[in-house]
Amino acid sequence: MQVVRTIPELQKALAPKRHQGLSIGLVPTMGCLHSGHQALIKRAKKESAVVVVSIFVNPTQFGPNEDFARYPRTFAADEQACRESGADIIFAPSTEDFYASDASTWVNVGYVSEGLCGKFRPGHFQGVATVVTMLFNAVQPQITVFGQKDLQQLAVIRRLVRDLHFPIKIIAHETVREPNGVAMSSRNRYLSEIEKTKAEAIPKALKLAQSLVEKGESDAHRILIAVRENLSSLPDFQIQYIEIVNCETMAPCPTIERGECAIAVAGYLGKTRLIDNLILR
Ligand code: PAF
Repeated sequence: MQVVRTIPELQKALAPKRHQGLSIGLVPTMGCLHSGHQALIKRAKKESAVVVVSIFVNPTQFGPNEDFARYPRTFAADEQACRESGADIIFAPSTEDFYASDASTWVNVGYVSEGLCGKFRPGHFQGVATVVTMLFNAVQPQITVFGQKDLQQLAVIRRLVRDLHFPIKIIAHETVREPNGVAMSSRNRYLSEIEKTKAEAIPKALKLAQSLVEKGESDAHRILIAVRENLSSLPDFQIQYIEIVNCETMAPCPTIERGECAIAVAGYLGKTRLIDNLILR
């Protein structure tokens, strides 16, 4: 496995692989890798001959009062996790190398990025869409793997790939969960042991929505009332939103269309912002 820091180094590492006709897969990350990321890397390795993992804590997707400065940087452990999962190249540019000092070009995907997290994190998806576009251009992969855990991010990336005609296949990987059901996230590190246990109420509430759908309930409003009430058992969780949305457009779904809707939730448990979702099948 090779670690490269600049675009010319990356291109030099990839040129012989492309020359041999090997397919390239990209797993974009901000480091602080956990088993969820490792599952994405392993999936990319199944789908492509060469796997590039980018590790870049992207400043443009953090708001002024967010956790950019304290976001965990764990490069040595990340390198080990990449190696164990079968990555071939780590691309870890510096901010100065990756963004021009006077960069002024942004990728904005519109409606799909405006609701849910977009409402609470203005500019976040513009930062994500821009950096992912830059990564697609730098790596030029044939496939890329994103986690279903970041449901809206996935919808944003699908839209930008479609609208800008990137010849890249997007693979969505299902959310990897802790044994107690909590979705894996780099931000789970911020949780205390007590909070980690309390957080299990979140996936439980989402499962309640699923079981109501299985029993034949199709009215989103009624499902949301039941889920909110269920989550009131976790008073420490300050809900930002709970919504049932169309997976492609992120528009609210008044009634459940099977396989096309997801229930998505975000909020603060103590000082930690958590998100989770479940596709309603
Ligand atoms: O999901 C993430 O870790 C980030 O949003 C991504 C896709 C790597 C872009 O910085």
